Amino acid sequence: MPAPRIKSPALLVAESGADREGHGLRRTLGRFQLVCFGIGAIVGTGIFVGLSDSVAQAGPAVVVSFVLAAVTCVFTAFAFAELGGAIPVSGSSYSFAYAGLGETTAFLVGWCLLLEYGVSVSAVAVGWSQYVDELLHSLTGLNLPHALAAGPGDGGVVNLPAVIVIALASVLLVRGVRESARATAAMAVLKIAVLVAFCAIGFVAFQDGNLSPFSPAGLGGIGAGTTAAFFSYIGFDAITTAGEEARDPRRDIPFAILVCIGVVTLLYCAVALAAIGALGGDGVGDRPAALSHVVNEVTGSAVGGGVIAFGAVVAIASVVLAVMYGQTRILMSMSRDGLVPRVFEKVSPRTATPVAGTLIVGVVFAVPAAFASLDSVVNLCTIGTLATMVTVNIAVIALRRREPDLARTFRVPLYPATPLLGIGFCLYLIYETGPATWFQFAVFLAAGLLLYAGYGRRNSRLGRGGDQGLTPGDAGRVRQEA
Ligand code: ALA
Repeated sequence: MPAPRIKSPALLVAESGADREGHGLRRTLGRFQLVCFGIGAIVGTGIFVGLSDSVAQAGPAVVVSFVLAAVTCVFTAFAFAELGGAIPVSGSSYSFAYAGLGETTAFLVGWCLLLEYGVSVSAVAVGWSQYVDELLHSLTGLNLPHALAAGPGDGGVVNLPAVIVIALASVLLVRGVRESARATAAMAVLKIAVLVAFCAIGFVAFQDGNLSPFSPAGLGGIGAGTTAAFFSYIGFDAITTAGEEARDPRRDIPFAILVCIGVVTLLYCAVALAAIGALGGDGVGDRPAALSHVVNEVTGSAVGGGVIAFGAVVAIASVVLAVMYGQTRILMSMSRDGLVPRVFEKVSPRTATPVAGTLIVGVVFAVPAAFASLDSVVNLCTIGTLATMVTVNIAVIALRRREPDLARTFRVPLYPATPLLGIGFCLYLIYETGPATWFQFAVFLAAGLLLYAGYGRRNSRLGRGGDQGLTPGDAGRVRQEA
């Protein structure tokens, strides 16, 4: 069996040019923008749409589900913070896997990231339609024609709003990262404000009785609710894809990840408690545009629900923007390494963005968004994300052993218990996704392996020895390790 191809963190950073100016991308993102970018990538469909699914599974114990999903993410967020600070390149978990576990695993992680980023963009865009419809209804009393607002899986023909939000995000991303960051910051502030307002309204109508029976479906319900709630935390890792555009990535990326995960956890638990406390499990479970419904019921008017719908439209659009940004940056790293075609690494000198890569990603993501139903893609996205999270936790352990002297601006606390617990929680949630999703995921991974064997392995820059020539100072660090 051939030895795994491993790239050292120093070489990854040297190749990206991330430690010098003038590498194509521009360093414009400060701490505040990174936190907003994280909130932008995380808070969207999961809480505005998915909450009703988690409640349908777990009942009022959904609050426990949100805490369990948060705990899973917190352990792994530590791992991302350590590696994001130590290897500040655009590739995120793909690059961490390259350094920690080798090229084949890295390619598969990049492939899984297509599920996390690609499928989540489609899922999120589909969720966007629901709230666009709700907003239109509260403004005009009209609804979008169902045939044009849902894919065939949901009884429609094509989901046009989902395609439109992806097109808008593509245009903004092409224009420049500063413009995208400004838009993301404004959207992040607005969505937090809307969710805080929601909590205030929900808590005013809070009744203890709505919390019982607390766990109608028992532990099984809480487990299923946790898997559903997990979707709403996906995206915190996207912060690490800004490693080459952050002003001080080594310090600010770990900071932004940990702040985001803390803020989001508090917010989600409060929203879940407020919603259930106001209307009880039956009032929230399995409802489209559930948060608007809660506010309409509590206030007895459609105005509040309209405001929530507006917040959701903005929030979900910002997830599409941030996640598409992440996907283009990961493909850029993979392209630089020769594992995907070179078109993805071309940066326009005018806008300092990967224009062609962004447009390709937009077109490819628009297809499932137009035709898929939310439910059919969420589980696949969840399992793909969990698999990359397991890999990143393993990469932390591998790199602590292989590169003990690597400059780390943040270190996972209570090592190695934290990454091991991260792996354990992720495996538990993978188990909860169920056999049908495991099977789909296995087929997806097998397709990824074929692609790697047919294209990536042959064109890999490391495999061709191109890396040694490009960065002579680091040549000695390129290793083909057993
Ligand atoms: N966490 C993201 C959302 O909920 C994917 O929309």
